[in-house]
Amino acid sequence: MSSFPTPVTQEIFNYLKSSFAREDDFLSNLKLESALNGMPEITISVDQGAFLRFLIKAMKMQYIIEIGSLGGYSAITMAQALPDEGQLIAIEINSDYVKFIKEQVKKAGLQNKITVINADAKSYLPKLDAKCTFDMIFVDADKMNYKYYFDKSKDLLKVGGIFAADNGLAFGEIVNEKPSRNPFEVRAIKDFNDYILKQEDFHTCLLTIGDGLILSLKLK
Ligand SMILES: C[S@@+](CC[C@H](N)C(=O)[O-])C[C@H]1O[C@@H](n2cnc3c(N)ncnc32)[C@H](O)[C@@H]1O
Repeated sequence: MSSFPTPVTQEIFNYLKSSFAREDDFLSNLKLESALNGMPEITISVDQGAFLRFLIKAMKMQYIIEIGSLGGYSAITMAQALPDEGQLIAIEINSDYVKFIKEQVKKAGLQNKITVINADAKSYLPKLDAKCTFDMIFVDADKMNYKYYFDKSKDLLKVGGIFAADNGLAFGEIVNEKPSRNPFEVRAIKDFNDYILKQEDFHTCLLTIGDGLILSLKLK
């Protein structure tokens, strides 16, 4: 036994991809099509997807907001785990991506579960009049605004709901004083991590899957 985590090597990651974190053909094709359509390869990782699906089922979630949807990979991953009456609102700022997501949602037969909104989440969130409605807010958009997204969406969460955010390890640069890339985003994530850890009404942890998945449980 060791108190230090087992490093996920390429071989271990391949094992995960072929077992616990296997993605279905639809999702792997979606990644290929996204790349062919010129989208960057910055979706959540397969093990993050597997965990989010597990969480949605374990907590019997029904209503989710996603901020930052790219080609719809994480939105479709999560919606697959929702019950028939579940709803996921996917907010994406880029109108070309939104067109692509809508096509994919239709292809996946998930039109009844996913609503795609073409908007800047910074202006869209404050307009949502839905206090204590959502089981989870999942943020994977512009890193400079994570704190803003947390502040603007915490009232939308039910007590017992989860605020989740990707990139808690800041592209692997979280402990680097002089990050080699995206220094402003790395700084913003560090500040956000400090901020969310201080929230007394939330219980927060970080799972070291993908680039670090922050999970913050609303206590009251
Ligand atoms: C890392 S990608 C999302 C990946 C996606 N969650 C997945 O795993 O499939 C970030 C996305 O956030 C979008 N985005 C950036 N700023 C945004 C904003 N202010 N409002 C809504 N979407 C935004 C970008 O256009 C991009 O598609």
